Amino acid sequence: MKGIILAGGSATRLRPLTKITSKQLLPVYNKPMIYYPINTLVTAGIKDVLIIIAPEYAGHFLNLLGSGKEFGCKFTYEIQEKPRGLADAFIVGENFIAGDNVALILGDNIFDENFKDDLASFKSGGLIFLKEVPDPQRLGVVEIDAHGKVLSIEEKPEKPKSNLASVGLYVFDNRVSEIAKNLAPSARGEIEMTSYLGSPAINNAYFEMGELRAKVIQGAWEDAGTFDSLLRANTYWAKKHQS
Ligand code: DAU
Repeated sequence: MKGIILAGGSATRLRPLTKITSKQLLPVYNKPMIYYPINTLVTAGIKDVLIIIAPEYAGHFLNLLGSGKEFGCKFTYEIQEKPRGLADAFIVGENFIAGDNVALILGDNIFDENFKDDLASFKSGGLIFLKEVPDPQRLGVVEIDAHGKVLSIEEKPEKPKSNLASVGLYVFDNRVSEIAKNLAPSARGEIEMTSYLGSPAINNAYFEMGELRAKVIQGAWEDAGTFDSLLRANTYWAKKHQS
């Protein structure tokens, strides 16, 4: 299984913190943010990692992260010229994926959870992870039945059908790049991971094929993309470090 970290974007929500550097390089307690998703992939057993970055700060990432040896894996870098949407990771990363299964993690998603068994047992289709949240309307929202079967999945719905958010870790088989290349942009101009106002999307394509599985995670999770969630992530890891 290959790994991709999507660490581009313009992070306007975190200005002025992100005026002179990238969001994924900001500190979360004692490490730059991107160390957390790297660690999540490496502890899940992934050794081959593509890091997708925006052109403005590409040199910062290279200086900080290097070859990957220090982290026990190998890094490859690709530039995403424009933030075309999360699904673009599978187009930018197509040559890197090269027919393997792939786990995509968003560069601002911070987990305290070990995904080793989930990734090791993954065979085909799509696998997403869920976490109960108080504010689902700002995230991807998934409705499941009593057996964990996905019933619906939609991005930032005004009226969420559940409190279960799709967190920023996704596992797919090698059909994902072909699916991504055939997606039309949504009303907000992005190619989507999860359907936004009825747009086509990667997760929904696997859902419609009957091949999308979802698992609720037990460990902590934070999307550190806002001032408040960044502060929560800092506090969580500071406490954990000191205990
Ligand atoms: O954090 C989990 C949420 O992440 C999910 O619940 C949502 O379903 C998913 O769409 C995503 O929502 P966000 O609103 O957080 O997505 P955002 O546009 O902020 O992008 C997430 C990260 O990916 C961010 O660190 C920047 C990076 N990114 C984003 C886009 C659109 C890129 O590198 N390139 C892109 O083109």
